[in-house]
Amino acid sequence: MAASPDADDVDMAELPLETRCPPSPLRQYGGFWWPEPILPGVVAARAGFGPRPSDVFLASFPKSGTTWLKALAFATLHRADHPTHSLDHPLRRRNPHCVEFLEGLFALSPPAIKGGDVFAAHPSPRVIATHIPYSLLPERVTAEGAGCKLVYVCRDPKDALVSMWVFAKKMAAADEDGSPRDAFTIEDAFELFCDGRFPGGPQWAHVSGYWEASRRRPEKVLFLRYEEMLLDPVGKVRKLAEFMGCAFSEDEEAAGVGKDIVELCSIDALRNMEVNKNGTQKYAKNEDYFRKGVAGDWSNHMKPAMAARLDKIVEDALQGSGFTF
Ligand code: A3P
Repeated sequence: MAASPDADDVDMAELPLETRCPPSPLRQYGGFWWPEPILPGVVAARAGFGPRPSDVFLASFPKSGTTWLKALAFATLHRADHPTHSLDHPLRRRNPHCVEFLEGLFALSPPAIKGGDVFAAHPSPRVIATHIPYSLLPERVTAEGAGCKLVYVCRDPKDALVSMWVFAKKMAAADEDGSPRDAFTIEDAFELFCDGRFPGGPQWAHVSGYWEASRRRPEKVLFLRYEEMLLDPVGKVRKLAEFMGCAFSEDEEAAGVGKDIVELCSIDALRNMEVNKNGTQKYAKNEDYFRKGVAGDWSNHMKPAMAARLDKIVEDALQGSGFTF
């Protein structure tokens, strides 16, 4: 992987460019591919973000279960202030993306604010999401003694690929530049993904960075798998609560608080909330974040030979890392 460039020394126009992956051009920075509108936020976050020991980061490769993890972590961490059954629960009024992305908020903030720390006014404990690979996180976040905790959710690359392909076509369809985005086929997406030329790609390098960090620093980096969350959501929420330092009490266990959180954050519950039927985020409609929510949907879109080829690329790239999908 290329060395991380100096955060203050990035001329976007000089970076390698990929224009075949809608909806935005991608630029390669620090060994990973970034949507152009987001990259300035990565650079600004690396330069200006001031972490607090109580911060919890939710990290992921795009389309790996970020929205779900945001909902679960938010509902778990704030359950004292916002009981799950409350009709006024923030998740009933706001999409889970009310948990801001580190690089997204920096990218969207006016230059005068972006130059400082756009999260400075956010009250602790902060839950902050990110698609930034471990190697490119602000060093102050990963430094020994920083105290910050990171939860990573990883997903089968084939499902992440298909999920992003569908999502990208929806986002691109909303563009008004008239370009024929429907022509972005699964074969196009597949070739780009295999080359690592996908938002956040290469996916396997993204995953293995956090995997290695979770082995080295298990008290600071929790590694979750989307597929295991689907199989045992209550068990994973219990683990998440323990990791975040707010384990369920015996009374909460007896009252089924974990199960209540899982139900509040289930894809069907979230999908059917009014805010998610109608609202929008900066780049997409809220409803577009809730599609199937299953493991293995890739088989409805990719031929077995494609799957075998991608599996081999990933397996080869992960040789020696100790990680397998
Ligand atoms: P599919 O497109 O395969 O259905 P991200 O949140 O990182 O963008 O990931 C999106 C994927 O997570 C989509 O996968 C989406 O349907 C799924 N998802 C969203 N909310 C979910 C939930 N509450 N439970 C399980 N999966 C969810």
